[in-house]
Amino acid sequence: MMDYSLGKGNLENWVVSETEFSADKLGKVESIMYLGNGYMGLRSATEEPYLNEVRNLFVNGTFNKFDEKEVTELPNMADVTRIDIRVDGERFSLELGETRGYVRQLNLKSAELTRTFEWVSPKGKELHFHIKRFVSLDNLHLIGIQMEVENGQHPVEISFNTGINAQMNNNGSQHFHEGDRRIFDKRFVQLVQTTTESKIDVAINTVHKFTKNGKEVKTEPVMQMDRRKVGLKYTISLQPNDNLTMEKLTNVYTSRDKEFDKPNYHLEQLREHSLQDLRKMSESGYNLLIEVHHDAWQQKVWNKYNLEINSEDSFDLLALRFALYHLTVMTPAHDERMGIGAKALSGEGYKGHSFWDTEVFILPFFTFTNPEVAKSLLKYRYYGLVGARKKAEENGYEGAMYPWEAAWPTDGEVTPVWGAVDIITGKQTKIWSGFIEQHITSDIVHAVYQYFTMTGDQKFMDECGYEMVFDTAKFWASRLEWNEEKQEYHINNVVGPDEYKEHVNNNAFTNYMAHFNLKLAISYYEILSKQTPSWFAELNKKLSLEESYQHWLYKAEKLYLPEPREEDIVIPQDDTYLQLKEIDLTNYKNQDKVGTLFNDYNLEQVNKIQVSKQADINILFFMMGHAFSQEVIRANFNYYESKTLHDSSLSLSTHAILANDLGEEQLAYSLFKKASEIDLGSSMLSSDEGIHAASIGGIWQATVFGFAGVRLIDGKLRINPRLPKHWNDMKLTIHWKGQPVSLFITQATLSVKAENQKKIEFEVFGKSYECKDHIVIPIEVARECKEGAL
Ligand code: BGC
Repeated sequence: MMDYSLGKGNLENWVVSETEFSADKLGKVESIMYLGNGYMGLRSATEEPYLNEVRNLFVNGTFNKFDEKEVTELPNMADVTRIDIRVDGERFSLELGETRGYVRQLNLKSAELTRTFEWVSPKGKELHFHIKRFVSLDNLHLIGIQMEVENGQHPVEISFNTGINAQMNNNGSQHFHEGDRRIFDKRFVQLVQTTTESKIDVAINTVHKFTKNGKEVKTEPVMQMDRRKVGLKYTISLQPNDNLTMEKLTNVYTSRDKEFDKPNYHLEQLREHSLQDLRKMSESGYNLLIEVHHDAWQQKVWNKYNLEINSEDSFDLLALRFALYHLTVMTPAHDERMGIGAKALSGEGYKGHSFWDTEVFILPFFTFTNPEVAKSLLKYRYYGLVGARKKAEENGYEGAMYPWEAAWPTDGEVTPVWGAVDIITGKQTKIWSGFIEQHITSDIVHAVYQYFTMTGDQKFMDECGYEMVFDTAKFWASRLEWNEEKQEYHINNVVGPDEYKEHVNNNAFTNYMAHFNLKLAISYYEILSKQTPSWFAELNKKLSLEESYQHWLYKAEKLYLPEPREEDIVIPQDDTYLQLKEIDLTNYKNQDKVGTLFNDYNLEQVNKIQVSKQADINILFFMMGHAFSQEVIRANFNYYESKTLHDSSLSLSTHAILANDLGEEQLAYSLFKKASEIDLGSSMLSSDEGIHAASIGGIWQATVFGFAGVRLIDGKLRINPRLPKHWNDMKLTIHWKGQPVSLFITQATLSVKAENQKKIEFEVFGKSYECKDHIVIPIEVARECKEGAL
C-alpha cells in the first residue's frame, strides 16, 4: 500500500512510501522507486529474493540483439542487489516469521531508497533492519547499499551471501557471454562480460565492509564461484543489542562509455580502471559518498529547476517532485549518443527503445528549463539520421524517415513485428507502428524548431538542426501521394497517434505535422540562402537542396489538410473515422485498468468503431493550437474526448492542458490528477513493466504549459496563467534565449524576473510586455482584455 504523507518537517511532500509489503505486488514499487542517473537505472527490488520479483540493472546505450528474429534491446546486467541472509540458519524473508513497522521509502530530495522494519524469525529471533541504497548522481558508475542490523535479545549468527549474479535475462533472453569472474584480496569481486551480438564489454566490481558497534569487523569470507555468479559469504556472530552495518559498494563501467569507446580501447583498461576506481571509492565509504550524491541532487536538480507549487492538496507538489526526480534519473545527460526509453531505465517494457514520447512529452521540459540536456537529446536524433536514412531507403523513400522505435542511433527501425494475442484468432497481433506510424519524423523536427526558437542556438542548427529539417522534408516530399481526382497530395495508409486506427488515409495529425515539416524546411532554406549564402552553398552541396526546395514549395501547397466539417466544425481524424459506427463506451470510459475494450473486441473490430486509444487530433491542438480557432478546438475536444479511452498514458496530460486552455478548470485539474496517478495511484500492478516516462513528462507539461500557461506560440513566449483554484501560487525558472527567467504566479499576479537583466519580450493574454529586470502583472486585468485567449 502506498502512502505519500510520511515525509515530515523539511521532508514534507518529498517522500514516496510503501507501508505494507506484499510479495504478490512487487512491480509497482520496484519501478516507481527505481534509482538512477541517466547512465544506469537500478530497479528497486528488495535484497532478499521473492518469486515474482524483477531485478533489473540497465546501462543506457548497451543495446544487444539476442537473436536474429528478435529486436535489439537494453540487456539486463548482472545483479548486485540480491543478498541472501540467514539468521541462525533460517532464511530471511518477509514471507516467513513476522514483520513489524514495515516502511519502504524513496526520498525524492536525496534520491535515496530506504527500508525499515523489525523482523522476528520463525524461531523467535528479533532483528531490526534499516537498509539504504543510492545510485550516485555525482559518480555515474557508483551504486551504494548499506544495511544496518540491530540485534534483539538473543545471540545470533547472521550470514550474508552477496556478490555479483549474472544469471539474469530479459524475459528469458540471455544477452551476455559467460565472462570472467575474479576475487581480489578476498574482498574485491569482479565480473567482466561481453554482450553476444553488439560485443560491448561490461565490468562490474563490488566490495563489502562490515562494522560492529562502530568498529570494522575483519572477517574471512568464504569465496564462491558458480556459473555466471561470483561472491562472498560472510558469517558474523551478534550478541544481544549488537549493531552491525554492512556496506556494499559497486561500480559499473562499459566499453560504450565515452572514455573507453575509442579506437585504441583494450579490455584490460576497462578491468583495471574500474577496479582501481572501486578501491578508491571504498576508502570513502557509504556515508561520505552519499553526501556528495545529495549535494549533486541539490545543485543540479532542485536548485536548478526551482519549481514549487503551493496547493491545498499537498499530493500535487509531491507528484511534481516525483516527475522532476524521474525526468532526471531517466535522462542520459552525459552522452548525446543515447536517448530515453518509454519505460526509462525502470523495467523491461518497450526494451529501452525511444519513441515520439521523448520529443513530444519529455524533451520540452529540458528545452524550457535545461537546454544543454535538450541539445544532447536532439543530437541523439541527429546521429540517428543514419538509421533514419536507412529506413527511408528500405521503404523506397528519400531523405530521412525516423524509426518509430529507436535504440542505438545507427540501428534504424527496431519496433518488434509481433505483439499481444488476438482474442478472436488466438494468433499474435501484428504491430504496424514500425511500418506505418510515421508522424514521429515531424515530431522530432518540431522539437528541433522548439529548441532553436527557445534558445537561439545557431551553432546547433548549423551543425545538426538544418540537416535534420531538410532531410526529413525530403522524406515527406517523397512520401506524399498524388490524388488525381482531388488534385491534391495525400498521406495514405498510416497509423496516427491513435493506435486504434490502423491503415488510415490522411490522419489529420500526420498531415498537419508533415506540412509543418515542409514549411519549416522552406522557411529555413529561404533564410539561409539569403542570410548566410556561403554556409547555404555548403549544405546545398551536401544535401542537393535547390531541387528539393521546388518540390517542398509545390507539395506543401497541395498537401491536403483536413478542415472542420460544416455541421459541427469537427475535423475528421482521418478519411473514415467519422463514418465508423458508434458504440456505448461508458463501461470502457469508467474502466479502472486500461485496455478493457480488448476483453470484448479484437483490434480489427476496434478499427471499425469510433473509439480512440489516446489524444490524436487533440495533440495537434496542443502543439499547434494557434493555427485553429478556440471554437474549433472546443468542438473537437468535446467530440474526441468522449471517444477517447486514455488507454495510452500519453493521453491524460494533453487533455488536461487543453481543458485548461478552454477554461474548463475543474476538468483540467481532475485530468491532471488522473495523469499524476498513472504511476503514483493506488493500482499496484500498472507500473510492473516500468514507469510511464512520457506521462511523467506530461505531469510537468500539464503544470507548466497548462496551469502556468507558459508556451511557445508562433515563435513568441506566451504566459497565460490559469492556476487551479486549489493552488495558491507556484514558482519556476525557465530559460529563454540563454537567460534564466523566474516566474512567480499567484491567483492574482504574474511576476517575471529576467535573471541576467537582459530584455525579454512576452505576451500575456494577447498583450505584449517586455522587461529587463522584474515586472508584476495583474492577471485578472490581462485576462479581461482578452477573455478566452488560448
Ligand atoms: C502509445 C504510443 C507510445 C508508446 C510508448 C503506446 O501505447 O500508443 O503513443 O509512443 O506506447 O509509450
